[in-house]
Amino acid sequence: MAFHEESKIFKLEEALSYEYLPDILPHREQQIKYLAENLLPASKGRKPQNIFIFGSPGIGKTASAKYVFREFEDYSGIKTIYLNCWDFNTSTSILSKLVSELGMFVQRRGWAKDEVMSRLIEVLEKSKKGLLICLDEADQLIYKDQKVLYDLLRLNQYVKNPVGLIFISNNPHIFSEIEPRIKSSLSVEEIEFKPYTVAEMMDILKERAANGFRAVESGVVALASAHAINKGGDVRVGLECLMKAGRIAESESSDKVAVEHVRKVLKDVVKAKPEILKERVSDVERMVLDMLSKKSRATLDELYKEYSESVNEPLTRRMFMEYVNHLGGINLVKVGKRKLGKSRIISKV
Ligand SMILES: Nc1ncnc2c1ncn2[C@@H]1O[C@H](COP(=O)(O)OP(=O)(O)OP(=O)(O)O)[C@@H](O)[C@H]1O
Ligand SMILES: [Mg+2]
Repeated sequence: MAFHEESKIFKLEEALSYEYLPDILPHREQQIKYLAENLLPASKGRKPQNIFIFGSPGIGKTASAKYVFREFEDYSGIKTIYLNCWDFNTSTSILSKLVSELGMFVQRRGWAKDEVMSRLIEVLEKSKKGLLICLDEADQLIYKDQKVLYDLLRLNQYVKNPVGLIFISNNPHIFSEIEPRIKSSLSVEEIEFKPYTVAEMMDILKERAANGFRAVESGVVALASAHAINKGGDVRVGLECLMKAGRIAESESSDKVAVEHVRKVLKDVVKAKPEILKERVSDVERMVLDMLSKKSRATLDELYKEYSESVNEPLTRRMFMEYVNHLGGINLVKVGKRKLGKSRIISKV
């Protein structure tokens, strides 16, 4: 059997990873309570409120939704299903995933959507449970295949189970161009997540550091927090600082994580979300990145013209702008005093 020497630095290294869902989420208590209140009717057979959560990267949107889902799974008898729309961005793939999560066999390929839908209805009728579906990174879905919204809405007509939807996105406007009829039947309650202040970031990282490390010099958390705020407020930046500092402390056989260790890693830890996005670039993003790699700078008008001429069904200009505005790794530079939007020059960071 392999022998693992106990780390002098890490108590629970995974507590510093992005995926770790802590026991408490400081400064998101209100949002969590609000989410729970709006969704809880599903446990009593009543229709829950659909919700749209938006806000900048790394400020606890996904974590809060997963937190509520974990509680519900444990205590309420509601079935919860979390989907990241980068992985599931067509109607059939989403419906199939729902069927298999509900415990029924589904063939990955070869089934038509209607067939999957009738399976889903069948399995829901059997379970009678309330169902909550979280569609994270929902922009990926709505840009690609809005029809899935019809299908999910239709579920409410077919089955008695209360079905609730939670959408999450960085972009506050993903529903702005959806057909009014769907929009009104969706009737989503919007929750804006605001960025954390430095003090809040410190509370959050202090808690994560206390879970992850055995001993931390004072000043470590403050430095990591300040860096995270400077780099745009993404908690992941702070977590990565702590994790990397911990590894250095360990390699130096230090007995605690020191400020000096954090200092050494600061320059290597920048925005975290663009790193993730680089691997998962959508079609529009890939196009914009391609266009920019040829030109390096361009106005939005130029980009939109080139984009709309090269695809069959282009997004509207407004939607395209929304998209570019929320693109990780792209720097928007405003030039001159001309009106916003028209005057913006875009360049790669
Ligand atoms: N209040 C908090 N307490 C503890 N950890 C937090 C808190 N807020 C965020 N985090 C942690 O920060 C990381 C990023 O949070 P999360 O994934 O929820 O961001 P997000 O808002 O969904 O960002 P994105 O828009 O990039 O998906 C996760 O590891 C999460 O656990
Ligand atoms: Mg998220």
